Amino acid sequence: MKTKIFLSGFFLTIILVGFYSCKKESGTVQASVLRLSLPDVPFEYNAMQNTFPPRSNDLITLGRVLFYDTHLSAGNSISCASCHKQAIGFSDNTAFSRGFENKLTGRNSIPIQNLGSFQGQPTSLFWDGRESFLTSMVLKPITNHVEMGMNDDNAIAERVNKVPFYPELFAKAYDGDKTITAVKIAEAIASFCGQIKTTNTKFDLFNSGQTKLSGLETEGMNLFFSKYNCGSCHQSTTIPSYGGFFTDFINIGLDENYTDKGRGAQTGLEVDNGKFKVPSLRNIELTAPYMHDGRFATLVEVLDHYSHGIANSANLDERLKGTNGLPLQMNISNQEKTALIAFLNTLTDYTITQDVRFSTPFISQ
Ligand code: HEC
Ligand code: HEC
Repeated sequence: MKTKIFLSGFFLTIILVGFYSCKKESGTVQASVLRLSLPDVPFEYNAMQNTFPPRSNDLITLGRVLFYDTHLSAGNSISCASCHKQAIGFSDNTAFSRGFENKLTGRNSIPIQNLGSFQGQPTSLFWDGRESFLTSMVLKPITNHVEMGMNDDNAIAERVNKVPFYPELFAKAYDGDKTITAVKIAEAIASFCGQIKTTNTKFDLFNSGQTKLSGLETEGMNLFFSKYNCGSCHQSTTIPSYGGFFTDFINIGLDENYTDKGRGAQTGLEVDNGKFKVPSLRNIELTAPYMHDGRFATLVEVLDHYSHGIANSANLDERLKGTNGLPLQMNISNQEKTALIAFLNTLTDYTITQDVRFSTPFISQ
């Protein structure tokens, strides 16, 4: 393996010539070369000096490189971005994602967005809230055998240590200190993830009086917040964060019998079975398929569920029951579905999917 460094225009390009074994399904090993390309002066992020370590542009840049680097996985085949794709709001376009050795994840990939304010503070991460801190959780996908196939945090640090361009990137991020540790890797990735915000939507512009919604979008908004009371659970739709440090875990009647106990598997309580985190609906237009198991391919299918598909079970949320105690039949008309979807589409942040600061720093050859 050899490293060449040269300056070209505004870009300092580091070429890493290496053979990245990438296992194909047939079992053959493919060689490919990745080239790291970073701007000479780091991109401007929402840097913060009053945190420890300071969330500098250099630390966030290091996080960006790690997020896209397949070196973090056994077999050098998977990076965080394999399942959290920028073009679709840092989610995945399949019900279950393929991790190490083509094994499937147990649940649908969650879009990474608006986690910044929770760095250092507890929140509910994953569909079942099994993790509370972003910085300690970002290494979990790597050590999780299905996702990235690595055994322990030290093995990750050792791997990163062997990649020629990292000592310099760590030195920049850590005040000249080139030492690479799992903790630093986690801090950098968490800092990067924390920058991904979906606050630039039509709905945000409407809320700040900078734009108007169309007639159809307004109709959808009223159905969402009034007639069908979707907003009683999906508060996160109006607030960029989850609307609080902890989210509710709710059963929306997807099944009569739960194959995935969700929150219940964490707490061990019968009353939590079949309950899952209320997901943010920001960028929902981009993040199909839907629900914790990706069972619905389209928003129309989601609305069909609320309209006439809610299944009865002991833990079904009261808000989704009628006065007779049975599952609500919302009977949402086709016109109303069109309006609701028009409103949901105002929650898309198109800037984040194209912002070069969040794109891959690697160029494949
Ligand atoms: C093989 C696919 C895969 C890879 C690789 C992967 N993830 Fe995920 N990610 C998922 C899935 C699936 C979930 C939801 C899991 C669950 O809830 O049980 C998830 C959830 C998350 C969440 C929780 C978001 C929330 O709002 O609760 C974060 C943050 C996250 N991943 C970050 C990362 C980072 C950082 C990496 C790289 C170190 C990574 N992921 C690698 C599939 C993946
Ligand atoms: C009682 C609380 C509650 C109400 C009311 C509710 N939802 Fe949900 N919604 C949830 C929960 C919880 C999930 C995730 C369920 C799961 O995956 O098991 C969800 C999932 C969704 C999803 C898929 C999100 C994703 O990322 O996969 C969409 C879209 C959605 N709801 C839209 C709506 C609309 C539109 C309404 C009103 C017609 C509505 N919801 C009413 C709690 C609620």
